[in-house]
Amino acid sequence: MGLEWVEGFYSRTGSWWGPAEARVSERDRARVRMLRAHAGDGPARVLELGSGYGMTAVAAVEDGFDVTAVELSDRVRHTPAMPGLTVAGGSFYDVTLDGRFDVVCYWNGFGVGTDQDQRRLLRRIAAEWLRPGGVALIDVFNPLVWARLHGTKDHKFPDPSRGYAHELHQEIHFDAATSTAHDTWWDAATPDEKITQVLRCYSPADLRLLLEGTGLRLDTVTSRAPGGLRLLTESYEYTAVLLPVDTGDPVQEGAAER
Ligand SMILES: C[S@@+](CC[C@H](N)C(=O)[O-])C[C@H]1O[C@@H](n2cnc3c(N)ncnc32)[C@H](O)[C@@H]1O
Repeated sequence: MGLEWVEGFYSRTGSWWGPAEARVSERDRARVRMLRAHAGDGPARVLELGSGYGMTAVAAVEDGFDVTAVELSDRVRHTPAMPGLTVAGGSFYDVTLDGRFDVVCYWNGFGVGTDQDQRRLLRRIAAEWLRPGGVALIDVFNPLVWARLHGTKDHKFPDPSRGYAHELHQEIHFDAATSTAHDTWWDAATPDEKITQVLRCYSPADLRLLLEGTGLRLDTVTSRAPGGLRLLTESYEYTAVLLPVDTGDPVQEGAAER
């Protein structure tokens, strides 16, 4: 499955959930604490990829970061204009951005499309966006936990007081051969209009292989969850801390040609 479903899926689900979820929450504050832990206390330029409603970007600006947010779907219409925040609508595969960033982050989104698509993105991060000595913080879906969700179904009822207006169904399948989660949703009012997101899940070992030749290397894996990183049981995603590789390394340069 390619990338053709991406804009439609996140725009449609954004129309269901945006009224409830387009507000700064503790999840956004935890992400900003992680940014601070890596960027230090001073001013820093942050590039946020796949910024959704833009609430983490808002929280980061409120904390003193200068943020550029890139978002493909019309979730971006929830992102407010504010000093310190530059919003680029469109795909991170096409966008042209000025200057380099101290931190590039992608929260809860990496893994759509093919391995080559991920590599294309990782190469752009390394070659065009990250400054020397910068850090990339990328949330990666964990296959060990998504595999356990295979066959599960959920039925969500409207909760208008919290902004959830739609009655929704969800079904999850996990394809072990491709390590992809197929997460299908539909509105109970339009059961013929099912939409599916396909999420490539990478173990840390898979991710190390994916990174070969991209100009980035895996430094550590971590989690913002209160219980910490629990790859075997709880962590749907982990955060990969990626650093630029030494560009003088001939092995990495050769691999980048593949
Ligand atoms: C699961 S959502 C997470 C949104 C946000 N990071 C958050 O945690 O709330 C993934 C987001 O990545 C965006 N996205 C996926 N591919 C993209 C691309 N090529 N360019 C820009 N945004 C993209 C989607 O539109 C979607 O809003």
